[in-house]
Amino acid sequence: MTLGRRGRRLVCCEPLHSTLVIGPTQTGKTTGLAVPAILEWDGPVLATSVKTDLLRDTIDARADRGNVQLFDPAGSTGLESASWTPLVSCHTWAGARRTAAWLAEGASASKRGLADGDFWYAAAAKLLAPLLFAAARSKRTMADVVTWVDTQEEFGVRNALAGTHERDAINAFEASTGRDERQRSSIYTTAETVLEAYADPDVLARSRTAGIRADELLSGGRHTLYLSATVREQRRLRPVFVALIESIVEEAYRRSAATGRPLDPPLLVVLDEAANVAPLPDIDVIAATGAGHGVQLLTVLQDLAQAHDRWGRDRADTIVNNHRARVIATGTADERTLQYVNRVLGDTEIRHESSTIGEPGRRSTTVSSSFRPLAPANIVREAAPGSALLLYGSLPPAWIKFRPWFRERSLSRAARPS
Ligand SMILES: Nc1ncnc2c1ncn2[C@@H]1O[C@H](COP(=O)(O)OP(=O)(O)OP(=O)(O)O)[C@@H](O)[C@H]1O
Ligand SMILES: [Mg+2]
Repeated sequence: MTLGRRGRRLVCCEPLHSTLVIGPTQTGKTTGLAVPAILEWDGPVLATSVKTDLLRDTIDARADRGNVQLFDPAGSTGLESASWTPLVSCHTWAGARRTAAWLAEGASASKRGLADGDFWYAAAAKLLAPLLFAAARSKRTMADVVTWVDTQEEFGVRNALAGTHERDAINAFEASTGRDERQRSSIYTTAETVLEAYADPDVLARSRTAGIRADELLSGGRHTLYLSATVREQRRLRPVFVALIESIVEEAYRRSAATGRPLDPPLLVVLDEAANVAPLPDIDVIAATGAGHGVQLLTVLQDLAQAHDRWGRDRADTIVNNHRARVIATGTADERTLQYVNRVLGDTEIRHESSTIGEPGRRSTTVSSSFRPLAPANIVREAAPGSALLLYGSLPPAWIKFRPWFRERSLSRAARPS
């Protein structure tokens, strides 16, 4: 994947090594890096988009290469949306547990200020797992799961679970329903929040069938799946997006483990506005291990404060550090981002020499050192628009220029295939 230019030369990351782009709005993250990456990718692509820019600028090129599907459950683009249900991966108890955890983690909004938030979301996942499993096995839909949660249904769920003969699922459901009344009701309320997206009839209608399938996306063609939501809907849809993306990444890892080789052709995962639409709970792990499995991750964030809010302080640091390439666009005023840059780059030693002339003909020189940050905050904040600071592995930092797709002839040609 090409990151930008340095002079006339292209700067690329090593094949499949994860990349993180951080920069305030309108600094070229999407047009200068995400769009070019998609236009030049020779393999399947999974991309999120909050504004429709990324979709609009790449869809023709991708349609020229393979099948394109759009998951736009709330109908934000006006284009036809494919359907997807979390129940596709819930036919096994392990699959249902994973899916419930993804949905709950996608919903657990902010890690800041919610001391016992994790407890309630974990408890909601434990309740949802047997519900999803029961629904998948009895050929029901998400509409039934929502009704079960809303009405705190027990009889129907027990019946469906009995048919599965899965002791662990039955026990998990009994454990949730057997809690004392106050806890039980809080857990159901949390589960309602997790499934809030499905309160929208449009979203529900686009969850009846499994039109989107990870195995088809990864079947060897140059297929594309876009996930789209507007800023207004992103919070509600977050759990659904997280579960869908995780299920596809999991399939990629499963295929790679089965063959013992990275997925070929490799999968490009572009998480534009990652903290808002797709805060994957294990994004740090994917950033660190994706290359070995044939998954190229490109994560786009506005600033580190956003990452701290979403994933919590410690995880956010790990997430940033696990991306091999970190591209900091200019103009950022976010204190955390600037501090990070200063911390990573460290200080540079500045040597001062002063000479004094004493007795005739005798000169003495004193050398002293002082230290100042290699990237003082104002340099990163005020560098020319379109440029970005590249921090790559343990290499020295470098300034690069983004390649806006509309300014590079090869990219604009790729964007508009005849
Ligand atoms: N087709 C185009 N032709 C010329 N300029 C464009 C075109 N598309 C976008 N731009 C400009 O490119 C600049 C960078 O926009 P871009 O969307 O890449 O920023 P961004 O960093 O992704 O911002 P955000 O965080 O808001 O998504 C904007 O000033 C925009 O007006
Ligand atoms: Mg953008």
